[in-house]
Amino acid sequence: MSEQVYAIAIDGPSGAGKSTLAKEIAAERGILYVDTGALYRTIGCYVFQQGIDPKDEQAVINILPEVHVDMIYSEDGLQHMLLNGKDVTTEIRLPEISMYASAVSAIPAVREHLLEVQRTLARSHSVIMDGRDIGTVVLPDADVKIYLTASVEKRAERRWKELAERGTPKPYEEVLQEMEARDWADTHREIAPLREAEDAVRVDTSDIDFAASKAALLDVIERSLGER
Ligand code: DC
Repeated sequence: MSEQVYAIAIDGPSGAGKSTLAKEIAAERGILYVDTGALYRTIGCYVFQQGIDPKDEQAVINILPEVHVDMIYSEDGLQHMLLNGKDVTTEIRLPEISMYASAVSAIPAVREHLLEVQRTLARSHSVIMDGRDIGTVVLPDADVKIYLTASVEKRAERRWKELAERGTPKPYEEVLQEMEARDWADTHREIAPLREAEDAVRVDTSDIDFAASKAALLDVIERSLGER
């Protein structure tokens, strides 16, 4: 990694607040925020559109050559996802795409396909990159590694509130079950499962609000980068 650029890796389970926190911190520090889950979601979206079973590894591998994923940044610094040239930034957030993304992310060929995209971005820009395997696989030499987590009940509660605010409410029990299923899939897959890097700093946001979570992350980042 060159001296001018630095990388902050944030891994953790779904719903821990990684993307909201990383986005704000990136804007404040003037660095690039890379949401790697969006890459898997974009491939999941294509598999969904084609009516393919995301667990059918061979079928997913067969369509990979026809999936062109681009990550572009608008003037306000927000990341947009293009699927074969079409902006799917909003579509990939649909709840049904989450399980598709999780299923395709367990396929080695899909991970291989996306690895270089992620590393290339980190070579040319200072980044705060969030995902499941950033500190362990994608950027093992990241300057800062954070494992951001919270209890599954708290994460489900936050997602449940978010869905209600968005006008797409769901029963809490259902949200909790989906969260548990995704946690299981993300931590039990054979390739690059979600796990805490040995040298990551763990931040648990179960009992702290957004402001306190952000302060905790900034503290880790500034200390790790030697700014304090
Ligand atoms: O962070 P997210 O919910 O948008 O991620 C969607 C899915 O993509 C998630 O269930 C697991 C997968 N993922 C991954 O395997 N590796 C990453 N670096 C990021 C996401």
